[in-house]
Amino acid sequence: MVAPSMLAADLAELKTAVEWVNRSEADWLHLDVMDGTFVPNISYGIPVVQAVKKHARKPLDTHLMIVQPERYFDAFKEAGAAILTIHYEASTHLNRSLQRIAQLGMRAGLALNPHTPVSLLEDSIADVDVLLIMSVNPGFGGQRFIENTYSKVEKAKNLILQKKAKTLIEVDGGVHAQHAAALFASGADILVAGTAVFQSADPVQAIAELKNS
Ligand code: DX5
Ligand code: ZN
Repeated sequence: MVAPSMLAADLAELKTAVEWVNRSEADWLHLDVMDGTFVPNISYGIPVVQAVKKHARKPLDTHLMIVQPERYFDAFKEAGAAILTIHYEASTHLNRSLQRIAQLGMRAGLALNPHTPVSLLEDSIADVDVLLIMSVNPGFGGQRFIENTYSKVEKAKNLILQKKAKTLIEVDGGVHAQHAAALFASGADILVAGTAVFQSADPVQAIAELKNS
């Protein structure tokens, strides 16, 4: 599956970008929410998710790069998030947070920064619907893909199989067409791509290329 990240789109033409995604083979639409504290950048928040929701025909895959994300679970649900992903590094009471997201009727996502090992999830993977493995340090689009991600995806896949969990694996950051086949082969289910999609001449075609790798 493929989830284009709107962060790389022209934000003044967001509706056009959403319509490209609607017309494409994309599965989800990825929205990066940054608070300037958890990550050294500020992107957009709840009003933008709401605005995108009005036009989007794909599920909103909402990636929260914010501290104390639990403050906003209800608000993101109301705004239209289908998948709500929080960071392991920003969650003191992870079990409670994952349960709460599920209780609200969203798919519970958990993101790992590049330095956070998959082995820490032994006791939580069963509660995770979508495991998002960061393949760059979160905060900015257009960074270089970290090659260690392939082995991290394999480790995640092994843990999921071992625990008989149904968790999907998502990879986010610096993903381009040349990484797609190897990521899918390593066990990834969903690829997030910003620059590769929106900085290309034909976003709809770029999505198809990733998807059919
Ligand atoms: C980074 C974000 C990513 C990013 C992906 O903090 O989580 O979703 O926007 O964009 P590219 O594909 O340009 O790295
Ligand atoms: Zn993201």
